[in-house]
Amino acid sequence: MDSPHKTRSLSTNLLFLFILLTSNLLTLLFSSTLYPSCSYNPTTTTTITTTNADVPNTRVAAEATTELPPEFLSFTSAQLLPLGFNTNFDSDTLYPPVGRACTLFPDELRRYMSYKVNGSCPDDELLAQKLLLKGCEPLPRRRCRPAAPPHYVEPFPLPVSFWTTPSDSSVVWTAYTCKNYSCLINRRRNQKGFDDCKDCFDLEGPEKVRWSGSVGSGVDFSIDEVLATKKPGTIRIGLDIGGGVATFAIRMKEKNITIVTTSMNLNGPFNNFIASRGVVPLYISISQRLPFFDNTLDIVHSMHVLSNWIPTTLLHFLFFDIYRVLRPGGLFWLDHFFCVGEQFEEVYQPLIDSIGFKKVKWVVGRKLDRGPELREMYLSALLEKPLKNSW
Ligand SMILES: *[C@@H]1O[C@H](CO)[C@@H](O)[C@H](O)[C@H]1NC(C)=O
Ligand SMILES: *[C@@H]1O[C@H](CO)[C@@H](O)[C@H](O)[C@H]1NC(C)=O
Ligand SMILES: *[C@@H]1O[C@H](CO)[C@@H](O)[C@H](O)[C@H]1NC(C)=O
Repeated sequence: MDSPHKTRSLSTNLLFLFILLTSNLLTLLFSSTLYPSCSYNPTTTTTITTTNADVPNTRVAAEATTELPPEFLSFTSAQLLPLGFNTNFDSDTLYPPVGRACTLFPDELRRYMSYKVNGSCPDDELLAQKLLLKGCEPLPRRRCRPAAPPHYVEPFPLPVSFWTTPSDSSVVWTAYTCKNYSCLINRRRNQKGFDDCKDCFDLEGPEKVRWSGSVGSGVDFSIDEVLATKKPGTIRIGLDIGGGVATFAIRMKEKNITIVTTSMNLNGPFNNFIASRGVVPLYISISQRLPFFDNTLDIVHSMHVLSNWIPTTLLHFLFFDIYRVLRPGGLFWLDHFFCVGEQFEEVYQPLIDSIGFKKVKWVVGRKLDRGPELREMYLSALLEKPLKNSW
């Protein structure tokens, strides 16, 4: 863990910067004649940087600036609401939300927030995603235009888009090893040792039959058998956490059920691909509080992602967050939760039991593809938030 000293020096620096920034903003306010509170200043960056050199208190100011980039401070500093006190906020000030962890990574943050205001953003998807995955989430906003394919091709129309590989020209490929979809489709064969969603982009492969009931063992539930546990038509909206290329959402859309799919772009343009197929991708990590209100969703699904690689405390919070967003009577389909040997009885089963779900289905199976001696196992569970007394 970081030393308290480090924390203290960071907050001292922040205080100095706040003072510096406030004085800059005051100067700005006094110097503008009309609608001061509506004005935005894309050149705040320049103002701050040049002022630093002139301020007598240079050591601290300069030190602080090297730690936190000016564009970051511009975005995160308190913003006065133009129309004054707002009763909904119970405040006249808004603090743009950026994960506190952002400031733990000053080097990456400086690279990410160094760009020309009102210009083109750097083509830096990989940097941004690493920063986000480490905990700087949500990422700070930027005042620039993101990299875009030079010859963007519009998506196929519905329903053709569901099962058609999109055009290579709909993606900026800089961040990925593959530079086109045929490379992604063939990478199971061509890239040894790569096993993160290796079949995902091949819509003719295993993706095609997932959740159809035609494959696999007891841990493979079908969509139909899951939906059959509820009154017809009452499962209408939901979320798939870490849903790969969103085949779950596509299958559900074919049944008129709306599913939003969270995904990262781990060595592939998952978010572009999901959007091209015609369902909604949500670019948030598994650490982020789910952006839905309490008691709203009919179903939450997650396959392979929620597993023993996630720190247990984080997983505990996550399961409670899923419970929170599900409506009473809503379903949590925990699909192929992965762990090893006695971890299951000692850690995960008690953890899942503690949340308060009702067990509708609960199947534990051994995972044998890497050999029985590894004692790997899967749990697939269909859990229901109680209709009554869920609170
Ligand atoms: C911002 O960029 C746009 C597009 O490049 C340009 O038309 C506009 O003049 C710029 N505005 C300022 C204030 O620089
Ligand atoms: C796709 O990329 C691979 C290399 O990554 C290249 O060999 C192949 O020719 C490309 N295919 C198309 C259709 O552009
Ligand atoms: C989906 O909704 C459309 C329009 O309401 C309807 O025609 C169609 O039968 C529905 N499909 C399913 C599988 O329920």
